[in-house]
Amino acid sequence: MGYSQITLVGGLFITVLLLAPAVLATDPDPLQDFCVADLDGKAVSVNGHTCKPMSAAGEDFLFSSKLAKAGNTTTPNGSAVTELDVDEWPGVNTLGVSMNRVDFAPGGTNPPHVHPRATEIGLITQGELLVGIIGSLDSGNKLHSRVLRAGETFVIPRGLMHFQFNVGKTEASMVVSFNSQNPGIVFVPLTLFGSNPPIPTAVLSKALRVDGGVVELLKSKFASGS
Ligand SMILES: *[C@@H]1O[C@H](CO)[C@@H](O)[C@H](O)[C@H]1NC(C)=O
Ligand SMILES: *[C@@H]1O[C@H](CO)[C@@H](O)[C@H](O)[C@H]1NC(C)=O
Repeated sequence: MGYSQITLVGGLFITVLLLAPAVLATDPDPLQDFCVADLDGKAVSVNGHTCKPMSAAGEDFLFSSKLAKAGNTTTPNGSAVTELDVDEWPGVNTLGVSMNRVDFAPGGTNPPHVHPRATEIGLITQGELLVGIIGSLDSGNKLHSRVLRAGETFVIPRGLMHFQFNVGKTEASMVVSFNSQNPGIVFVPLTLFGSNPPIPTAVLSKALRVDGGVVELLKSKFASGS
């Protein structure tokens, strides 16, 4: 290779290295206006969903009414998540965004959880919610928390653990959005105590510094997988 070829190859290599984190940080960019998800096309393994032909997409794929209705908060957590990711809204396919609505009974919680593929931004629409976000060890494992009321907002960097808790006397609700069409969710209690198959009790006993009986008790609470 001549000098100019080496410079070119080196330049390309450095460009790829510089771009790589940006490319991996969010969903890939779309290459067309619309790519309405073909949810029945799941047998095809792609990074997301294949597009329906526009002739089969209908007229309404840019709109959804699914967050208009409150969820039923009579659940073990006292909260109900209404998801609106690509599986509920095929129109967001390839667009790198999605939403959720969460309703809370008084004392209800959205248990500590993590979204592996998205940063989250949220707006309280009703009531009073304690919102907590825990930094990673890099930032000292610090809990950032505040009670937020209707109209107030929060942001949760991708991958950080967070929770909400209704500290008010009435129902509370919030609407959140994500910079991924499929943010994913890892609920800490369910992941630790309700995995399938279960994490061995000896592992959790050592990790959590309690005896096996405590671990078994916690596992019994999440045995149903929800
Ligand atoms: C909410 O869920 C509870 C428990 O499953 C059920 O008993 C109740 O009827 C539901 N309420 C409504 C309004 O659907
Ligand atoms: C309640 O918490 C569990 C994890 O502990 C989770 O699987 C479930 O989706 C939550 N339910 C609601 C309605 O928030």
